[in-house]
Amino acid sequence: LFAGPVEFLKGVVAMEGLPPDDRPEVCFAGRSNVGKSSLINALTGRKALARTSNTPGRTQEINFFTVGESRYLVDLPGYGFAEAPLPVVEKWQRLLRAYLAGRASLRRAFVLVDMRHGIKKVDEEIMGLLNKSAVTFQVILTKADKVSTADQEKTLAQVRTALAKHPAAYPEILVTSSEKGDGIATLRALIASIA
Ligand code: GTP
Ligand code: MG
Repeated sequence: LFAGPVEFLKGVVAMEGLPPDDRPEVCFAGRSNVGKSSLINALTGRKALARTSNTPGRTQEINFFTVGESRYLVDLPGYGFAEAPLPVVEKWQRLLRAYLAGRASLRRAFVLVDMRHGIKKVDEEIMGLLNKSAVTFQVILTKADKVSTADQEKTLAQVRTALAKHPAAYPEILVTSSEKGDGIATLRALIASIA
C-alpha cells in the first residue's frame, strides 16, 4: 500500500467539507503534540507531508491524505491544550468530535498516547466517545525513543488496564518511534490489512 504515491488531498474545517465517504480510511487522534503528524510522515516516508511542530496545536484542520489507489489517512487536530485562541480551538474540537462520532467510512481510529505520559483524562473521554459511537480504536504509543524499557512496561500496564473498560478497543497496543522508526513497518502492514 505504501509503495504507491501518497498525496495531500485537502484540509477540512467543517463537516460539509469532508470528501465523499466512498473508501476506507483510518485516522490519527491524540493529544496535541503527541506526534500524529510525525507518524504520518514516518509511515509515508515523506519528511514534510504533514506539518509538524514543537508547538501544541500545529494541525488545525482535518487533513486527508490518499495512499495507494483507494485509501485515506486522516491527520486530526489534537485535543487538550493548544497554543491558539480559545474560540478557534473550540471550533476545531467540535469538528474533531463530530468527525470521530459520525464518519461512516472510518475503519479504525488510532489513538496516539505519549509513552512518557500514558493515558490522560482527555484520552479517556475520547475513547468513551469512540466506544459510544462503535468506532473500533487502537492505541499507538509514541516517542518510545524517549522512554527506558522499564518505564515502557509501566505505561503498557496502565494502557492495558484502561483499555479493558472499552469494548470497542482493539487489544493490541503498538509501540512506535517516528524518530527512530520503531514499529513503523508493523503499522504499515496493519493499515494495509484494514480494508
Ligand atoms: P498537533 O498537530 O499540534 O496536535 O501535534 P502532533 O500530534 O501532530 O505532533 P507533531 O507530529 O507535530 O510532533 C510534535 C513534536 O514531537 C515535534 O517536535 C516532533 O518532532 C516530536 N516527535 C514526534 N514523534 C516523535 C518521536 O517518535 N520521537 C521523538 N523524540 N520526538 C517526536
Ligand atoms: Mg499535527
